[in-house]
Amino acid sequence: MLTKEDNEMLTRVGPGTPCGELLRRYWHPVCIASELTEDRPKKRLRVLGEDLVIFRDEQGGYGLLAEQCSHRGASLYYGFLEDGGLRCPYHGWLYDATGTCLEQPFEPSQSMLKHSIRHPAYPVQQLAGLLFAFMGPKPASLLPRWDVVAWEDGERTLSRQQILSCNWLQAEENTADVTHTYFLHGHTMRMKGRTDGEYYYRPIEQYGFQRFEYGLVKSWRYADNGSRFGAERGGGNPLVFPNMLRLTSGPTHSIHWRVPIDDVQTRIFVATFSRSGEGRRWGAERPEGEQPSIDERMDVNRDPNGEYSLDTFPSQDTMAWETQGPIFDRTKEHLGASDRGVAMFRQMLKEQIEIVQRGAEPMGVIRDPEKNQLIELPGWVVEGTPDVVSVHGGTSPRVKSMDTVFDERHEIMEVPFGKARPRPSS
Ligand code: FES
Ligand SMILES: [Fe+2]
Repeated sequence: MLTKEDNEMLTRVGPGTPCGELLRRYWHPVCIASELTEDRPKKRLRVLGEDLVIFRDEQGGYGLLAEQCSHRGASLYYGFLEDGGLRCPYHGWLYDATGTCLEQPFEPSQSMLKHSIRHPAYPVQQLAGLLFAFMGPKPASLLPRWDVVAWEDGERTLSRQQILSCNWLQAEENTADVTHTYFLHGHTMRMKGRTDGEYYYRPIEQYGFQRFEYGLVKSWRYADNGSRFGAERGGGNPLVFPNMLRLTSGPTHSIHWRVPIDDVQTRIFVATFSRSGEGRRWGAERPEGEQPSIDERMDVNRDPNGEYSLDTFPSQDTMAWETQGPIFDRTKEHLGASDRGVAMFRQMLKEQIEIVQRGAEPMGVIRDPEKNQLIELPGWVVEGTPDVVSVHGGTSPRVKSMDTVFDERHEIMEVPFGKARPRPSS
């Protein structure tokens, strides 16, 4: 349970709020690069409660500016991309991608007004077909080269899920919640007569949590229930601080970013990567600069009656997160031992908010280019042998063993026999 004040502190994302200031220390994906085309080179965005316009200029560079003109507030979205910047449609003030006002066509030539204008502008970088923005104080940190966006020896897809009508923290707390998969995914799929939740429908014997350099890593021990997956002692699928999930599922690696639109809406971007397994570059024959394919299937969450379809993992998760309310009132919750990961994540958030308030650098902010060549995250770690790996079709070079990630900080809880851990039948 949180106090009302703490709930406010951990959820609000606007400029000047404690969590908003923390989130502004990290790069966030805001747009899929291929959405900006020659025909439609501008797009309106709302990110962390700020209304923005992202654009690709005549030279192919990207800019991200506050939507409302610094003159008298008209929307720059309707402006003209010309003369090295974005020109306001109302009276023609011209801004470059750094927010410098280059022209004010009706002001006297000796006017100093334009030199006093600092239009809000944020750096944008492209990586793996996504456009990332940094909305914090300069100098910006390095855009992290997480494995899923830095690897090149395979196929990448990108997707943007339907807008989530709830606060970002509900989605991100789920990443610290290792036991939800049994009922929300495994049991739901089984009740629908489907087999695609089987991995998560094995009896859970143990679950655990541990901090690591970039966030929080989870563990599990599944019993063999005669399914094709067998027993497994594994871990991974970490929460990458502050708002990511790094997931490995069979041979597919992915990152989900839960980017706050504002306090009550969230946009989820997903990048997936399937490795060729031999260092071979699957996409090598594709023309230079081609965008990864965009998968929109994750947009289907509702059935014809407007209810959650619960047919897909995203629909199941969306149901759980949105029905908690626009901003879940955590003064009314009752946390148990299985919510230990959620509690650890909140602790981490509070700690890092305080670090930012002291003027220091929070965890996971990268400034050393050496360190940023390739940041491999523990997507999937298993106890055991390559056999375990081949059963799930994973790419063996990227599956680490448990002791490379977990140590004496690992907190493990035992699940009693019952609904989520049926007793072995014989
Ligand atoms: S409102 Fe933009 S130039 Fe006047
Ligand atoms: Fe889930």
